[in-house]
Amino acid sequence: MVSRVIPVEPFDLVIFGATGDLSTRKILPGLYRRDLAGQLPEEARIVGAARSPFDDEGWRAEIRKALEEHVPEGKLDPQAMERFLARNSYVAVDARGEDGWAALAAKMRPGAVQAYYFSVGPSLFGDLAERLNLHGMNTDNCRIVVEKPFGHDLTSARDLNATLACHFDEHQIYRIDHYLGKETVQNLMAVRFGNMLFEPLWNAQYVDHIQITVAETVGVAGRGGYYDKSGAMRDMVQNHMMQLLCLIAMEPPYAFDPDAVRDEKLKVIRALDPVRLSDIVRGQYEAGNGHASYLADVENPHSRTECFIAIKAHVSSWRWKGTPFYLRTGKRLRARTSEIAIIFKDPPHSLFGEQEGQKSNVLVIRLQPNEGIKLKVTIKEPGPGGMRLIEVPLDMSFAEALGPGAEDIPDAYERLIMDVIRGNQTLFMRGDEVEAAWAWTDPIIAAWEAREDRPHPYDPGSSGPEDALMLMHRDGRRWREVKP
Ligand code: BG6
Repeated sequence: MVSRVIPVEPFDLVIFGATGDLSTRKILPGLYRRDLAGQLPEEARIVGAARSPFDDEGWRAEIRKALEEHVPEGKLDPQAMERFLARNSYVAVDARGEDGWAALAAKMRPGAVQAYYFSVGPSLFGDLAERLNLHGMNTDNCRIVVEKPFGHDLTSARDLNATLACHFDEHQIYRIDHYLGKETVQNLMAVRFGNMLFEPLWNAQYVDHIQITVAETVGVAGRGGYYDKSGAMRDMVQNHMMQLLCLIAMEPPYAFDPDAVRDEKLKVIRALDPVRLSDIVRGQYEAGNGHASYLADVENPHSRTECFIAIKAHVSSWRWKGTPFYLRTGKRLRARTSEIAIIFKDPPHSLFGEQEGQKSNVLVIRLQPNEGIKLKVTIKEPGPGGMRLIEVPLDMSFAEALGPGAEDIPDAYERLIMDVIRGNQTLFMRGDEVEAAWAWTDPIIAAWEAREDRPHPYDPGSSGPEDALMLMHRDGRRWREVKP
C-alpha cells in the first residue's frame, strides 16, 4: 500500500493533564507514531502541562517510559524517539490558580497553530478556558480539544457548552469521540457516498434492520468509580453508538465539510423516537472465568448500573420509517468485536423455492478487530445436482486488499489530533449534536432510574443476557454471533 503522509503545519500543542492515563497511553504515543510516519514538521512542539513538578529532562524520561510501554517494539526507532523527545517540554501549571500560566504563555510561538488538549475532567474545562483567555493564549489560530464525558446529562452538557462558549467560538472547540477517528468508521462514509451500488438500497424499502454491536472482553475493574456512575448508556450509547447510528442513517451531506456532515447527523438524532422500556435490556456480568462480578468490580453490591445494554431504536424519517436499529454493547462478552451489519430484505419472490442456502444479503462493516467490509450474497453451489443455493461472503479485509502496511492503520487518536492541527472539525461533535444526543438518552435513563428492577445477570464470556436475545426473537430476527 502506498501511504500518502502530508505533513501538517507547524504547531504548539499543549496537553493539560499530560501525566494522566489518556495522555501517556494514547496522545503521546499517537503523536510519536505520526512523527515516525513523517507527518510532524520540523517546528512541531509539544508541551506537557500538569500539576506535578518536572523539568524538561524529567518529563522526557517519563515520555520515554510511556512510549516503551505503549508503542509496539517494532515501532520504537531510537532516532525517531530522540527527535520526538526533543520536541517535548513541560510546564507545571495550576489549573485553578495562577502558577505556571505566564511561563506557558511565553512558550507559545506566534504564527504556529496552537492547540490546547484538555485531557482532564470536565470540572476543569471552565478554569482552563478562562485562564487561556486571561493569559492571551486565545489567538486567532488556536483551538481547544475536549474529551468525553461531555456532561452527564442534557443540563450538564448545556452548562459545559455555555462555559466554553464564554471563552471560545464553536469553530475553535473540538469535542472528541474517538470512534469517529476509526478507519472503518470513515470508510463507512466512503462506501456509502463513493459508490453507486449501496445508496439506492439504503432505506426502509430494502433494509430489513440494522445491528450495531460493540462487544468488549474487558470488565470495569480499575475504573469502577467512574463507570458505576455512568453505565453503558452514558459511556457508550450516548456517544460512540449514536455516532455510528448517525453515519448509517444520515442523508448524503452536500459536501464532506464539517458543518454539512454534522447538520445531517443532527437531523438523525432529532428524528430518533423515544424508546419504550420494553425495547431495552440491561445487564450486569456475574463472576466467572477467573473474573470478579460487575458488582465486585465496582465495589457496590447494590448497583443497578448496566454494563450491557441492548436497545431497539427507530429513526422516524422518510428513509427509515419501519426499519429498526438494534444497538448492543457490553463488557466481559465473548469477544472484542465491533461491527455494523445492514441486513437487507429477502427478494420479493423466491424463484428457486424455499431453500436453506438462500439467506438475506448482509453488509458487515467491521470496525475492529480485522477492519474490513464484507457483503454476504447468495450464489449457486458449484457442481451438478441442480440449483442449490449457498451464501458466500465477498470479503474485503483491508489488510488483505490493501497489502503490506494496511494493518498499520493509525490509531483513532493519531488521526483526530492531526485533524485538530489541520483545523478540520468534520470528525468532531458539535455542541448541538451532543445536546441532542443527551436529549434522547436522558428520558431513557430517567425511566430506568424511576423503576426498581435490576439489570439481568449474564455469564462472563457470553453474548449478554438471555433477554437481549428475546428482544430480537420476538421480532423474528436474531443477533449476529459475537465472535472475534
Ligand atoms: C471509551 C469507554 O470511550 O471507549 C470505554 O469509556 C470503552 O468504556 C472504550 O472501553 C472502547 O473503545 P475502543 O476503541 O477500545 O473500542
